[in-house]
Amino acid sequence: MQTESGLKVTAKAPANIALIKFWGKRDEKLRIPMNNSVSVNLSSAFTTTSVQFRKSLNKDKITLNNHPLNNLESERITTHLDRIRKLAKLSLKAEVITINNFPQGSGIASSASGFAALSMAGAKAAGLNLNERQLSVLARLGSGSACRSIPNGWVEWKAGEKSEESFAYSLHDSKYWDVCDLIAIVSKKRKAVGSSEGHTLALNSPFYKSRLIGLDDKITKIKTAINNRDFCQMGEIVEAEALNMHAVMMTSIPALLYWTPETLQLMQNIIDWRKSGLKSYYTIDAGPNVHILCLSKDVKTLLTKLKREENVEEVIVNQISDGTKILSSV
Ligand code: DP6
Repeated sequence: MQTESGLKVTAKAPANIALIKFWGKRDEKLRIPMNNSVSVNLSSAFTTTSVQFRKSLNKDKITLNNHPLNNLESERITTHLDRIRKLAKLSLKAEVITINNFPQGSGIASSASGFAALSMAGAKAAGLNLNERQLSVLARLGSGSACRSIPNGWVEWKAGEKSEESFAYSLHDSKYWDVCDLIAIVSKKRKAVGSSEGHTLALNSPFYKSRLIGLDDKITKIKTAINNRDFCQMGEIVEAEALNMHAVMMTSIPALLYWTPETLQLMQNIIDWRKSGLKSYYTIDAGPNVHILCLSKDVKTLLTKLKREENVEEVIVNQISDGTKILSSV
């Protein structure tokens, strides 16, 4: 396909929140994780990306939210396009237009939805016909957690040992269970240490080995809780897991401390609200913002409570969504 322009393909990919986290890599370059992880896709935080390979371009032209990226920012995307070009035996440069629906710097990781959308749109635009598993592998090479944004709904990422064995698949579809995820934004500041760097530091925490020992059991238990639709059992595992990952972060050298006083205050509130009957559970990624899992019947009550918290700048309400989809191909 070395014609003037190939198809312009647009894909939409959700962000995801990990219930069991990916923290630490067995292979940094291939982004093969040390452990399996489990996540859900988020309906209100997504990336839409169009890719078109064009003869008239002498370098990749990339915009994010209508602004051109500088060389450093675009390097990771160009490297990913190179992976696609290699698979498709294609030399044309691409125009990539990416829009995140969530505000920049809202503390929602854009790399998962970003690389999932780029992989699906890019592969199709390059004339590749990849199945879900191959797309998940491709997305993983761009950003580990992106592999979990490809399949629908409730997802497990099998760590694997080789690249083609490390992919995510759907445990249950998005309509399986009406769990919601409220993202309470307490800070929009860019994090000082990104997750790629954090994964490397994880391995030097004295707690990392013990974290790994407990993980298989935790994954079996959370999958059972999800299979039984046992919300409290699942929530207890999710909270313990978030604390476990943050204990590793805090004990890495140098230490990574992502929480702020506002994060901790919200965690405490959620525990207190639970004591008074409101069943919700927190989880936190590599940043200060708090994800609150609840059943859909409790969203309204939680929103009312969160509105009263002066430190909460914004709340993004998510249902569980499908994975990455092609929107158009013209
Ligand atoms: C804390 O997938 O962002 O969100 O592969 O370096 O891009 P890279 O890492 P990334 O790490 C995600 C870390 C996490 C936990 C998780 O999503 O499982």
